[in-house]
Amino acid sequence: MSAPREQFSSKTGFVMAAAGSAIGLGNIWGFPTQTASNGGAAFVVIYFILAFVLAYPALMAELIIGRHARANVVTSLRHISNGKKSYALASGVGFYGVITASLILSFYAIVAGWMLAYLFESITQMLGWTQASEWLTGFGLQRNLIFMGLFMAMTMAIISSGIKGGIEKWSTRLMPMLLFIMIALTVYVMTQDGAMEGLRVYLLPDFSQINPGLILDAMGQAFFSLSLGVGTMLVYGSYLSKQDSLPKLGAAVTLVDSSIAFLAGLLIIPAIFVAQKNGVTVFTESGDMIAGPDLIFQVLPSLFDSMGDMGLIVAFAFFSLMSIAAVTSSISMLEVPVSYMTEETPASRHQSTLIVGLIIAAISAIILFNFNDLFGLVIDLTTVYSQPILGVLMCVFVGWIWHRNNLLEELKAGHDNIESTLFWKIWPNYVRFVCPALILATFIRAL
Ligand code: PHE
Repeated sequence: MSAPREQFSSKTGFVMAAAGSAIGLGNIWGFPTQTASNGGAAFVVIYFILAFVLAYPALMAELIIGRHARANVVTSLRHISNGKKSYALASGVGFYGVITASLILSFYAIVAGWMLAYLFESITQMLGWTQASEWLTGFGLQRNLIFMGLFMAMTMAIISSGIKGGIEKWSTRLMPMLLFIMIALTVYVMTQDGAMEGLRVYLLPDFSQINPGLILDAMGQAFFSLSLGVGTMLVYGSYLSKQDSLPKLGAAVTLVDSSIAFLAGLLIIPAIFVAQKNGVTVFTESGDMIAGPDLIFQVLPSLFDSMGDMGLIVAFAFFSLMSIAAVTSSISMLEVPVSYMTEETPASRHQSTLIVGLIIAAISAIILFNFNDLFGLVIDLTTVYSQPILGVLMCVFVGWIWHRNNLLEELKAGHDNIESTLFWKIWPNYVRFVCPALILATFIRAL
């Protein structure tokens, strides 16, 4: 506790890290598959509206709490509470966030492990090592455990090095790579036969597709994609300097995250149609587009196979992209429990990372041993239920519990004449009334 608290070294450092957290499997896999299974472009439109109208204000709530309190999620919420009851609520919400972030990581590490396995497979295939390739792409318990462990080890190594030397350094290195690979892949896919049909499905909305289920999916997707509710953004905000304007940084992160999701759709949806042109089965017997894991681990690999030698390179690039996206997100999840432990117990950052990392890896192992019962359940519990509920609670803290003057003071820091902006006029009441009401309404309606 005694060492001075670390900070991001610059605005860019923060934006890279926060965008790295936000841009993950949720963007490159979740968003295009949700789009595909929710009828295409109409989902894209609703998603963008919700990202800016709901998720951005909620993101701001987290960033501002974190930067004000400069502490982990539990301590930060306690800091802005104003009495015994709200202090207890703060502890409850804080720990709920810490546990949810850890559980998200426990399934995320499994999925990210598959990406790593497929990345290795693109190499074994180039080398002609068929047996290794079969093992890497088979759904074996051993393979799943090994690659989950490998991915957790990478995540832990980065978090153990701290904010500047770990999170910021790796995010600034990896995010430009991610963007480069993504653009290159998209351009390549666009030149293939069938891509234009995919583009049409992706870009021409059919508004008759909009229904409560679609809206809930879009909201869940927006919350997951911006890493909201679980304290990730709160903790990243706590490493920001008072000289930076929060509304601007938050808007930048939201914009970058949504743009990358959009770009991912430009890559994946046309790729599905190219695959179909190449003779790959892309629709299930009931006529729906194959969306879940089968899309990434069957449809796309078959597409790469059908591309000949070029396919090997494309596969390598694609699974590198997925792995990079995953690791810049997983570090932000691990930072939530680790920052709590480092700040509130005598354990050092290295020790905290090791202990928390091992516990989460053990949970991932339990999920793998009981895959059919637990995998889907943990995903639903954390992303469909806990994230929106926690999102509402964060808004309640900012809008109802935190002393209004202190909130406004914090908002002013780093942003000259903010009083003349629309943000200043709208946001404080917006998080107080509109955000919680909208999130709850969407949630209840869809249940
Ligand atoms: N935003 C990440 C993604 O899109 C997932 C995430 C959720 C990260 C919650 C941190 C916290 O994949």
